[in-house]
Amino acid sequence: MLKLGDQIKLSIEKLTFNGGRGLARFNGAVVFVPFTAPGDKVTATITKIKKRFIEAELHEIIEPSSLRTTPVCPVFGRCGGCSWQHLTYNSQLQTKLMLLGEFIKKVDPHVEVSEFLESPQQWHYRNRIQLHAEDGLYGYYSRKTNNLIPIKECPIADKDINENMALLYKEHLLKGHFKKKTSRFELTKGPKGRTHLITNQFTNNIRLFSQVNVAQNENLIKQVLNIINVINPKRIFDLYCGSGNFTFPIKDNNQKVSVSGVEMSSTSIKEAQKKALHLDADICFTHSTIEDFFKTHPGFTSEDLILIDPPRTGLSKSALEALAKKQPPSLIYISCNPATLTRDLTDLYKLSNLRIKTVIGFDMFPQTDHIESLVYLTSKSTK
Ligand SMILES: C[S@@+](CC[C@H](N)C(=O)[O-])C[C@H]1O[C@@H](n2cnc3c(N)ncnc32)[C@H](O)[C@@H]1O
Repeated sequence: MLKLGDQIKLSIEKLTFNGGRGLARFNGAVVFVPFTAPGDKVTATITKIKKRFIEAELHEIIEPSSLRTTPVCPVFGRCGGCSWQHLTYNSQLQTKLMLLGEFIKKVDPHVEVSEFLESPQQWHYRNRIQLHAEDGLYGYYSRKTNNLIPIKECPIADKDINENMALLYKEHLLKGHFKKKTSRFELTKGPKGRTHLITNQFTNNIRLFSQVNVAQNENLIKQVLNIINVINPKRIFDLYCGSGNFTFPIKDNNQKVSVSGVEMSSTSIKEAQKKALHLDADICFTHSTIEDFFKTHPGFTSEDLILIDPPRTGLSKSALEALAKKQPPSLIYISCNPATLTRDLTDLYKLSNLRIKTVIGFDMFPQTDHIESLVYLTSKSTK
């Protein structure tokens, strides 16, 4: 009978979604082990025994997988950030492609996912990181607890952020900005290339959404525009538009198209409205939840395109039902969570005529197991 603390010998079969842990089997039971790679032969210590699975921590690598590489970060394995620094970049991409493909097959077994676009930068791609300050130190929280893991730099953060991290922290510390025993703060590389620090004591901007991998975000926007140029819609609705990441390039790409953005964050929508005024861009930004927006929206025509980019939780039940009821002719669904994407697409298949045309994966977050994707759907009745 297995018990907590037992050490078991395992062969890792594959990597899994949601934490990126390796999967092995022991006497028929599924065992999840973080920081392992397919092909690894390891010993692992059991930390949790559940009815349907076991969790274990890597103890020793007996025989390493050929997919392994040496992690560059000194706190890799302890920090709650990167889960896949021990994997070659190519194997990270292949795994993401495979996992996304498995998810999409659950929605529509006829759809193949053949593309997972690599990130232009594998390191130093984040233009924004959130850290914690505690007792004169700063860093990330550890993987399983809220213990601070002090850092000097972060290999996935922009180089300018790393170069200015210590100095900015010290400046704000001396000014007394970290008043509480523990404070959260954000380092952001602004559009003018300068890093600045904001603490959550002074602003709620820290919660404002923006894409962190600027170069890969440009690729994502390009793909959205490619699709738009093919279908040439008359009206485009950018739902969950944030501060207009897609809305502005869409308008810029075609001045004739009518473009609307809907977003519930007042800070984001104000930013978008301010930018539209500044650029003299004819875009209608509405401050509303998507659920409320659908309550009064009269419905879509055959010349509309709807773009949705919801948070990790995906669409709420009422947003999904309202969207399906309005029978959009074309839909682009941008997702940062293939599990909620799969749930939502499965429901859209049941409730609407929408069917998948293309799926493209985008590696927005190298060195982690996060999967970003774009799914383009058209109505069965659309030619
Ligand atoms: C993944 S972000 C996408 C933002 C934007 N498209 C971008 O690329 O920067 C999701 C956005 O949806 C907004 N949001 C979340 N739930 C919402 C809801 N029920 N109605 C409207 N907006 C919502 C969030 O405030 C956030 O700005």
